[in-house]
Amino acid sequence: MKKYWEQIKELYGKRDLAYASLFWLFSQAGPYTKQLLVKLGISTFTLAMGFAGTIVSKYIIDATTSGSLNWTYVTYMILAAVFTILFSAVADIFDSYISEKFEFGMRCDMFNQIQTGVWNELSKYHSGDIVTRLTTDISTISSGLISIIPSAIIMGLRLLISFCILFYFDRWLAIFALFVAPIGAICALLYRKKYSYYYNKLRDTESSYRTFMQESLSNIAVIKTFQLEADNMNYMKNIRSERMSLVMSSSRLSALMSAFISLVYRTAYVVAFCWSAYRISTGQITYGTMTVFLSLVSQVQGSISSLGSTIPELYRMLISARRITDIVDIQNEDYKDITSVPEQVSVEIKDMTFSYDRKKNILEHLSLTVKPGDIVGIVGHSGAGKTTLIRLLLSLLKPDEGSVEYIDENGNRENAQPASRRFISYVPQGNTLLSGSIAQNLRMGKKNASEEELWEALRMADADTFVMKTEDGLDTRLTEKAGGLSEGQAQRIAIARALIRNKPQLILDEATSALDEDTESRILSRITKSYGKTIFIITHRRSMLRYCNRVIELGDDATATIRDLK
Ligand SMILES: Nc1ncnc2c1ncn2[C@@H]1O[C@H](COP(=O)(O)OP(=O)(O)O)[C@@H](O)[C@H]1O
Ligand SMILES: [Mg+2]
Repeated sequence: MKKYWEQIKELYGKRDLAYASLFWLFSQAGPYTKQLLVKLGISTFTLAMGFAGTIVSKYIIDATTSGSLNWTYVTYMILAAVFTILFSAVADIFDSYISEKFEFGMRCDMFNQIQTGVWNELSKYHSGDIVTRLTTDISTISSGLISIIPSAIIMGLRLLISFCILFYFDRWLAIFALFVAPIGAICALLYRKKYSYYYNKLRDTESSYRTFMQESLSNIAVIKTFQLEADNMNYMKNIRSERMSLVMSSSRLSALMSAFISLVYRTAYVVAFCWSAYRISTGQITYGTMTVFLSLVSQVQGSISSLGSTIPELYRMLISARRITDIVDIQNEDYKDITSVPEQVSVEIKDMTFSYDRKKNILEHLSLTVKPGDIVGIVGHSGAGKTTLIRLLLSLLKPDEGSVEYIDENGNRENAQPASRRFISYVPQGNTLLSGSIAQNLRMGKKNASEEELWEALRMADADTFVMKTEDGLDTRLTEKAGGLSEGQAQRIAIARALIRNKPQLILDEATSALDEDTESRILSRITKSYGKTIFIITHRRSMLRYCNRVIELGDDATATIRDLK
């Protein structure tokens, strides 16, 4: 028990953080102000109709008890009921319209914010975790802003109006009805903290089990061949029982609180009932007034109890908001929209030092100029920093010291920045094809590439023969992670994709690692002869350095040796 309170304190101790999330939440609702106001208007009207019905009922009853039925009042009452039903229906339709618009809009915005974030920060999150935040947390926020907050406002309004009318008829009863409110509020307050704790935990387990499932499914062959199915199921069972106990604890808590609140309210209702009955017997009020009383007393108490139950909802929203702001707060890349691409660029690395954690340098004081047409081999042990160097060229990472600059034919200089990626065609290490057809994958390099261009690139990458042999050719569909192709075939498609992009610098990061020596040699020979621009080749086969005119040898101690060949 004590542990829970410690954690809750820690969670809410960071007040400014909670306020920041709140502020962010309202900034999200900002563009929807108009729609939300319309919604509030409709709800207020429905509310007014409800009250009109209640008051009219008093007059009908009073008229009836004195021996006559007043048809005008009956008509009013029917009209009020019809309008209430009509407006509730309109409100429902309007509700689904704005919640869909808001929720999906927010998802798109957040997705865009995330994909423009700094790569290094993004890569610290698991994609399953990010997806949970983008889906479940956004749904929580959306339902909170679109339905829970507006209905809390309406509830407050209902409370105020019923209290005023009740006060008009019988002030002591009104004060009594309100008197029980703090009991409900205190319960809600107590309940809220523990509830928030459970909710937070539940969200975390949800992220971890999504992450786990996603990871297992995308590596299903590893799971099977390491015979991990049973272990996986155990892991899932554990998460499930953890969730089960959280869900049960939180629902027990909530049932207990509701039971207690109901008990208080029912008692209060009975007291109000007896009180009005007593006043009828003494002739102080009419039957009609008693009906209004009882209806209003239950309205006041109903509003208070609904307001109480929105408190935990608000906390859920804040927690989800924080989970989203965590990733939205990831710094955005400083992206300038520059599109002009010269035929040729040089790159100049000056005294560059880089480390991931500011502790162990991966590269130290590296200086290097690569001119148009240079073919640069990058070699070194696994883990020496070859891919890191490439990420620095691509501005996925920023140097700790020193600089990377691109220089065009006219001598214009540009510090490496996200927009400098327009100079580069890149074949990343590992399997990087997406699901879709071969043609779709290739056209990631150039949207409107003609079929001829596609075949030409495939030919350069030595992939034309096997694509031709497939039944559907360019339309052959790949599943996730290039399912349906061998690793070497996927690599060749990835090379073709980069060739189609055709930028002044081509970077091959172990792009030929799954190929036999002959095929690798054939591809590199073809590309180096005809690409006519700068090429960086990372390879573990030193014999391939024969195609290069320079070589950078990265040592394990962050050193680099640069040699000219030929
Ligand atoms: N995202 C990362 N965060 C922290 N360290 C990293 C990251 N990526 C790579 N490293 C570390 O940097 C070193 C160089 O990695 P890398 O450039 O990928 O080597 P390689 O020469 O095999 O391409 C390795 O020791 C690796 O552990
Ligand atoms: Mg690497």
